[in-house]
Amino acid sequence: MTSSSEIVENMSSETKVIRSRVAGVGCYLPERIVTNAELEKSVDTSDDWIVQRTGIRQRHIAAEGETTSQLGTKAAQAALKAAGLTADDIDLLIVATSTPDYTFPATATQIQHALGMSHGVAFDLQAVCSGFVFAVATADKFITSGSHHRALVIGAETFSRLLDWEDRTTCVLFGDGAGAMVLEAGEGEGTSADRGVLTTHLRSDGAHRAKLYVDGGPSTTGTTGHLRMQGRDVYRFAVGMVTDVMRDAFEATGTTVEDMKWFVPHQANRRIIESSAEKMGIAPEKVVVTVDRHGNTSAASIPLALCVAVADGRIKEGDLVMIEAIGGGFAWGAALIRW
Ligand code: ACO
Repeated sequence: MTSSSEIVENMSSETKVIRSRVAGVGCYLPERIVTNAELEKSVDTSDDWIVQRTGIRQRHIAAEGETTSQLGTKAAQAALKAAGLTADDIDLLIVATSTPDYTFPATATQIQHALGMSHGVAFDLQAVCSGFVFAVATADKFITSGSHHRALVIGAETFSRLLDWEDRTTCVLFGDGAGAMVLEAGEGEGTSADRGVLTTHLRSDGAHRAKLYVDGGPSTTGTTGHLRMQGRDVYRFAVGMVTDVMRDAFEATGTTVEDMKWFVPHQANRRIIESSAEKMGIAPEKVVVTVDRHGNTSAASIPLALCVAVADGRIKEGDLVMIEAIGGGFAWGAALIRW
């Protein structure tokens, strides 16, 4: 394996920076699909209500005994295959999740072990629905510092395990799944024409805890708890917050909405996605939407959407891609990546 220090030593005098380039993406969805019609049988809801308010038509739900680390491992294997690499080539593994297999150890270490890795470092990162953006930003800092060379960045969730299946205001919104991205060190000129992560912008404000949280935890109730949400309040803040960080990302790179080829937002709700795109002046055909088929898979939603848009030929090498998310905390962020 080439080390980061070797990369830096081999860089020609004209090259200025290390960039974290996307080498491959992969994803995995549990087999079982639950349609809105199926939910109508267990809670007082309707396909019409769910589709009109959220755009969600179905979601995948993990099988009994199927864990977040199992979903994440399958997504990671798919990403490694797409990159033409093996686990031996990876020296950093970050898992963004709010639904770990256990309170500890980190789900990342379980995926590391399942991939046959005993080298490198693996850890979890908790930023709820923005977890993947936070994990990309973190991996980018490790890679561009020269300390690590190739990262597996994974968003994996079994949100079905956190839901109160009798609460129609939340149980219709979420699903399970996993997505993964391999980022590797490459040479760049330090301009927005470089391939790789160009900029990342992360924010948080704990004042909003009560709007979206889980009512349990090891140091409070000693239980896992259930997801609770004031949906209208989340909606009210979400669009303004994500468009702020997207503007920061364009400004930092000297790029514009016109330069951006694909907008791959966190897939919480079709109305939030459409309002954010409209506010930024993003044409509907540039927006990647998977919430109709996946529901809200929290930290997994962006890598799942990236995986779909790469597989169907939309996202290609050289395309400028914006990812953004907001979730519990609130924690929110955006990243611009040239594929
Ligand atoms: N089926 C039928 N009726 C329902 C359902 C349901 N599943 N859920 C709520 N209702 C009812 C409510 O009880 C209420 O009835 P009432 O008028 O008799 O009291 C009515 O529908 C309206 O409820 P609201 O909560 O006001 O509905 P709203 O139009 O705000 O839509 C929604 C709810 C979709 C959650 C919306 O607030 C929203 O999109 N919020 C954003 C939150 C979000 O997407 N969260 C995801 C997690 S956060 C994240 O990932 C960013």
